[in-house]
Amino acid sequence: MRTKLVVGNWKMHKTVAEAAALVEGVVPAAESHPEVDVALCPPFLALPKVAELLKRSHVKLGAQDCFWEDEGAFTGKVSPKMLADFCASFCIVGHSETRGRFGKVEVPLTTLSHFSETDETVNLKIKALLYYAVTPILCVGETSDERAAGETDSVILRQLERGLGGVSSDELYGLVVAYEPVWAIGTGQTCDAQEADRVCGLIRGLLGQIGGPEAAEEVRILYGGSVKPENAFELFHMPQIDGGLVGGASLQADSFARIIAAS
Ligand code: PGA
Repeated sequence: MRTKLVVGNWKMHKTVAEAAALVEGVVPAAESHPEVDVALCPPFLALPKVAELLKRSHVKLGAQDCFWEDEGAFTGKVSPKMLADFCASFCIVGHSETRGRFGKVEVPLTTLSHFSETDETVNLKIKALLYYAVTPILCVGETSDERAAGETDSVILRQLERGLGGVSSDELYGLVVAYEPVWAIGTGQTCDAQEADRVCGLIRGLLGQIGGPEAAEEVRILYGGSVKPENAFELFHMPQIDGGLVGGASLQADSFARIIAAS
């Protein structure tokens, strides 16, 4: 039985003081649902304060992105080694916003990988995070054009296969995958629960091919894209969906608390 996981992705929101106020609101709600795993991914500048405030709670800390090297001349980047030093439990990788897709089908290959993730850089980040025992939350998802062209399944399979290239079945146990259709992110247009469940099932099937059925059964697969208190229950109680990656609705303690309660 997989424990439900609800992750708040705060994106580029909240000053340190605002982050602290939000944590104060979320922690009691999370503590009243110990059966649900909860994680918060604040912006980097708020990580120290949030880490301090979460110390005595079961709410875990996550980051929104990382680089793959331990250190070096990589201006503006944060390494998995640094995140591990901060006791971060999770790190989002391959979010459509860091892939630079923003609804686009292709990002030009000339775009520097430092600024737009590709499946290959996603793979490097995943391996580096696993090395430091920080759980990657690997995001995959199709754009609206890809869905309209009937390419949803092939896009998801490609992102997974390339993103997880060289990851062993033992390492697969330490992974979370989030199915995030790009067209559903921040649009209020949630994916139909049956369809989200079908895609999450597809993802689990491929994980089974990569790491064997036992590992695939253990991996938590989240849904993300306009999750709200009103739709969380239906989505999170589908057989293949183990919780959610929540953006906008995680920015207020009340709505995030209602999503945790619905899990
Ligand atoms: P949203 O974002 O809940 O605001 O749609 C989800 C995400 O980007 O992870």
